[in-house]
Order: sequence, then structure tokens, then C-alpha cells
Amino acid sequence: DVFFKSTHSARPSSHLRTGTKITVVGVGNVGMAIAQTILTQELTTELALVDIQADKLRGEMLDLQHAAAFLPRTKIVANTDYAVTAGSDICVITAGARQRDGESRLDLVERNLHLFKSIVPQLTKYSPDTILLVVSNPVDILTYIAWKLSGLPSNRVLGSGTNLDSSRFRSLIADHLDVNAQDVQAYIIGEHGDSSVALWSSISVGGVPVLSLLEKQQIPYEKETLETIHSAVINSAYEVIRLKGYTSWAIGYSAASLVKSIVRNQKRIHPVSVLAKGFHGIEDDVFLSLPAQLGTGGVLGVANIPLTGEETQRLNMSAKAIFGVQKQLGV
Ligand code: NAD
Ligand code: LAC
Repeated sequence: DVFFKSTHSARPSSHLRTGTKITVVGVGNVGMAIAQTILTQELTTELALVDIQADKLRGEMLDLQHAAAFLPRTKIVANTDYAVTAGSDICVITAGARQRDGESRLDLVERNLHLFKSIVPQLTKYSPDTILLVVSNPVDILTYIAWKLSGLPSNRVLGSGTNLDSSRFRSLIADHLDVNAQDVQAYIIGEHGDSSVALWSSISVGGVPVLSLLEKQQIPYEKETLETIHSAVINSAYEVIRLKGYTSWAIGYSAASLVKSIVRNQKRIHPVSVLAKGFHGIEDDVFLSLPAQLGTGGVLGVANIPLTGEETQRLNMSAKAIFGVQKQLGV
């Protein structure tokens, strides 16, 4: 009360939380890129960090707290004990092993399945109504595992999925056509990884459908260029990992865009990993990316995007690849 004399007879009691609380589990490259983007985009009033490395965790918390003078007021807390996460609106899971040079995302599954068994029940214990946003790889399978372990309804469990691949796709198409990536509407769906599916038929730039325009103007249909762009999307994570050891900034922005749509109830459509059973002929309990609408309830719906026969076939192959790994794991 030395600096501030209240004009109210009673201040609101401190246990009445207003605002938003977001937890990030795992303070490695990815967790910190997400935490930093969430802070700079002013998406939360409280940020909780959890990791098993106590010193690194405290170091990262202090380093962020030291930026307080440059940021909107945000409470930043960190602990190895999950009690610190209590009452989170969203829990973002980034903990776990990452790919070494040449490893695929699927190579990580057994190591990260084991970790998830210790992480997910702790999160739902302290935040029973939370929304889980899974980022650790292989993200589609771990999102399914998080759904099973959490007991949450499927609309409250999603994976960052191909939101990132779609951003890579849009930026490469934008370069190719010399336009702004934000004006390119284009989706990659399916597995976040090697069997992802590019939806060529629905690419548009500023509302102009690209493929049909090229066909009408009898510009030779650039099938090969398009396939090269999709291969570049698939290879881009491998390239960044070979060059700098890990990927971080793009997933930081990608995950923060999902958090923003949820906490601000934006009802925007993002390609994210959702329970895909029943869509496009998929019959198995798998999570993979489809364009989904996000808001405070989590996944509000899935866009009924028309697919060509080939796209449907590729999506089903992606689903089978994911389900095959789940069966091997016995989950
Ligand atoms: P990293 O090694 O830098 O960080 C991992 C962190 O997890 C470490 O701080 C570690 O201490 C922590 N951790 C390990 N076990 C834990 C546990 N049981 N509880 C809490 N924390 C634990 O790795 P990274 O580069 O940050 O990558 C993290 C994960 O994100 C990897 O699985 C990676 O493949 C994945 N990833 C996903 C995407 C995507 O688009 N979905 C993009 C990039 C990376
Ligand atoms: C990515 C990670 C490795 O950046 O999944 O795509």
C-alpha cells in the first residue's frame, strides 16, 4: 500500500482468477519458442512452465521474468511440480525427445509415449477442464495418446498437426508466385510428417483458384513444380534439423496462432490434428490434420472440404500409416 492506495473498500480476493492461464510443458527449444511468442502476442495473463530439469526451468522462468518491463503484465511461474499448472485453460505439451539428424518423427514414438504417461494425468488432475494442445512428435499419435490418457472429450484435445506444414506450403507457393503468403489459402492435411497430403485443388491466391486459372490460361499445368513444392515442405524440417539441430521459431508462431484462436474465441479454421474417424471414409480411431474451427470450446467443428479421389486415397493411406504404428504400440 506504499505506492498504491486502494479507492475500494475491499480489493478483490486474490483467489478469484480472471484472465487466461496457459501451461507449457517442456522448456526446450520448442517450448520456449512457444512461450516467448505467447508472451509477445499478449495471449495470456498467467504462464506456467513445467520441465523435469529444475535448473534449466528456473533459469528460463527468470530470463522471461526479466523482460517484464517490455511486456504486458503477465504472471510467469515455473515448477517441476504440476500443482503450478492448476486451473490452466490450455496446456501445451512440447516435452520429449526430438529427432536426431536423419531420424523420422515416428522414430520418437516409444520414448515419448512413456513420457506422456507421466505428463497427461498430472495435467488433467490439476486442470480437469483444460484443452490439451500436443506439439511433441510424432504429434498425431501422441495426440491420440493424450486423448486416451486424459479422458477428455475429443474436442478438447488437439495436435498442432499440419498448421506448420501448411505455413511452410503457403510460404513456398508465395515465393513461387511472388505474392504474400498471407494471401495464399492452401492446406496440407493428414499426418504431420512424411505422408502428409497437399490439397492442390483448393489453393487460391486472393480468392483466385490457382489450378483452374492456370488450366484456363493454358499455362502448362505445373504438376512437377507443385510436387516439388510438396516435397520441399516434407523435407523442410529435415533440412532445418540438419542445419541447426532442431526447429523452433516456425512451430512457436504456429502453436501461438492456435492458442490465439482458442483463447480469443476467433472461430478461425486451422489444419490441426483432430479425431478423424468418420471423415472422408476414415474408420479408425486416429488423429490427423483436417481443417478445423477453433474457439474457447476447443475444436468447434471440422470443415467439410471437398477432396479429389486421389486426395481421399492419400489421406486414408496417411490414416492407415498412423493407425499401424498405434497398433504396434498396443495403444
Ligand atoms: P528439447 O530437447 O530442446 O526439449 C525437450 C524438453 O523436454 C527438455 O527441456 C526436457 O527436459 C523436457 N522433458 C523431457 N522429459 C520430460 C518430462 N517427463 N516432463 C517434462 N519435461 C520433460 O526438444 P525440442 O527441440 O524442444 O523438441 C520438443 C518436441 O517437439 C520434440 O518431440 C520435437 O520433435 C517436437 N517438435 C514438434 C513440432 C511440431 O510441429 N509438432 C515442431 C518442432 C518440434
Ligand atoms: C517440424 C518438427 C520437427 O518442425 O515436427 O516439422
